[in-house]
Amino acid sequence: MPGDNVGKPQMVTCTAPVNIAVIKYWGKRNEELILPINSSLSVTLHQDQLKTTTTVASCRSFQEDRIWLNGKEEDVNHPRLQSCLREIRRLARKRRSDGDPSVDVTFLSHKVHICSVNNFPTAAGLASSAAGFACLVYTLAQLYGVEGELSGIARQGSGSACRSMYGGFVQWIMGQRADGKDSVAQQVEPESHWPELRILVLVASAERKPVGSTSGMQTSVETSRLLKHRADSVVPDRLKQMIEAVHKKDFAAFAELTMKDSNQFHATCLDTYPPIFYLNNVSRQVISLVHQYNRHCGETRVAYTFDAGPNAVIYTLQEHLAEFVQVVRHFFPPESNGEKFFKGLPVDHAVLSEELTKDICLEPMPKGISYIISTEAGPGPCVMQDPIQHLLGADALPKKNV
Ligand code: DP6
Repeated sequence: MPGDNVGKPQMVTCTAPVNIAVIKYWGKRNEELILPINSSLSVTLHQDQLKTTTTVASCRSFQEDRIWLNGKEEDVNHPRLQSCLREIRRLARKRRSDGDPSVDVTFLSHKVHICSVNNFPTAAGLASSAAGFACLVYTLAQLYGVEGELSGIARQGSGSACRSMYGGFVQWIMGQRADGKDSVAQQVEPESHWPELRILVLVASAERKPVGSTSGMQTSVETSRLLKHRADSVVPDRLKQMIEAVHKKDFAAFAELTMKDSNQFHATCLDTYPPIFYLNNVSRQVISLVHQYNRHCGETRVAYTFDAGPNAVIYTLQEHLAEFVQVVRHFFPPESNGEKFFKGLPVDHAVLSEELTKDICLEPMPKGISYIISTEAGPGPCVMQDPIQHLLGADALPKKNV
């Protein structure tokens, strides 16, 4: 627990991952506490490819709380940000009143400077709020010396953020209590459980999404009976099957459940009134491509899922990765080859058979996909030990390159 006797800022820097749900969260029963109408399950993506980095500094001389996101100062009074700050300080105070003398109460009253950056485009629909709030809560907890269950606090920043507090395969248990205390994330399996699993993010468009998740799901809860049916009668069973598929590393079952759940989520968006469209022509071509490819192979080798945007996230196994990437290149001829189009974990070259390209009845869509990020399941939030990684300088303002 850092003291602050000399008026020098105390600083902590951490990183946190993005997660992609295979059983989607869509709809709240309590807007303020962010309590969902159904449980969900996600895979945490590896931070070598996608992560948020956050530095928090605290000092008694700071006049006010301040926050910089991706190089721009933002309003620190955002209610969800304030919820996270308030809850983590409350937890730290509770530790103190429970008899932990290492918690310095005056330190908790000092203002903070927060600086956060993503290593991927914020508006690309890649769950940046999940990584962002998970990172904020984890970093504040390190600063205040708070350990233990923190996903319930990250949840109050953004629902899906609670799942980014763990690595591997993570479920968010919806909980039953009105105060939300039992609505927390839990690791189902660690990232080492299924090393053959590979993930591709196909970035279809880096444009900002038309309807944000928060307001979109609010309208869905108000107007879609399909959403109620999904939450009450479909997800509970599907989640059990998904957990079993993950435990057994049964890719065919995992893939089918993933695709069906993504499709049902987008069906509830269409059932929302007025309807919400997150998928575009590129997304629909990816869906077609995956089904035709699986049919050609005579087994389910690839699965897609889409969040509140047009980008596809693909799950497959290492042994099929090279061929499928080549299939994507064939049907979405890129503007440029090499590193600009393909980022992340390297993939071997594959040659497609004529039979395969003929069997898939699709017109190639040039430049439909702007780039691919190749990744795998990864760990939860991490502390950066080296002070060089701080995003704030000795003056507690963002460093020049941030
Ligand atoms: C489609 O967690 O962004 O990505 O709780 O309002 O911040 P808020 O919503 P958010 O919603 C994510 C929705 C989703 C599905 C999922 O990640 O489970």
